[in-house]
Amino acid sequence: MKNITILISGSGTNLQRIIDATKSSEIENAKINLVIADRPCFGLERAEKEGIENILIKRGKDFSENLENQIPENTDFIILAGFLSILTKEFCNKYEGKIINIHPSLLPKFGGKGMWGHHVHQAVLDANEKESGATVHFVTHGIDEGEIILQKSFPIDEGDTVEILQKKVHVVEKEIFPKAINLVLNKV
Ligand code: GRF
Repeated sequence: MKNITILISGSGTNLQRIIDATKSSEIENAKINLVIADRPCFGLERAEKEGIENILIKRGKDFSENLENQIPENTDFIILAGFLSILTKEFCNKYEGKIINIHPSLLPKFGGKGMWGHHVHQAVLDANEKESGATVHFVTHGIDEGEIILQKSFPIDEGDTVEILQKKVHVVEKEIFPKAINLVLNKV
């Protein structure tokens, strides 16, 4: 059984998807040992409701050190599921090959600093892209630059807005995230 620690900052719909997939064994041999949030968010309530241990580590001074200290000894794998803080180089190196992230674009397009949430979708629309999508990738020190595990695209239709792209991305994220986790989890 692999122990997964999940890091979040937001509403936690991807967290919920992972919780459900571990319960149904769609994600095999995995247990969520801890959910960590870097700000108060609904995702923490989801974890609490599911009886999963969860903590809030406030951002600011000593955040990185506190985060590192809170990762349980028995953690095999770390998943960033809508986590907005930037991890330090030391943290990324320590868990190299053992951290993955989901990003709401077709990386390497529309990744990097400042490219999160609605900023990504706005940039995609501004660039007149014909398609967008979601990507699950390994986390390295370079923001959104690690090796891609799985990616799925969808067409952008005439009149699509930031909100519509957000909804479309959420649908493909829920599809690829558990698959990507299965692909890599048993190799760590
Ligand atoms: C997702 O769209 C993910 O790609 C991005 O943040 C969003 C998190 O949504 N990194 P949720 O908190 O899982 O609902």
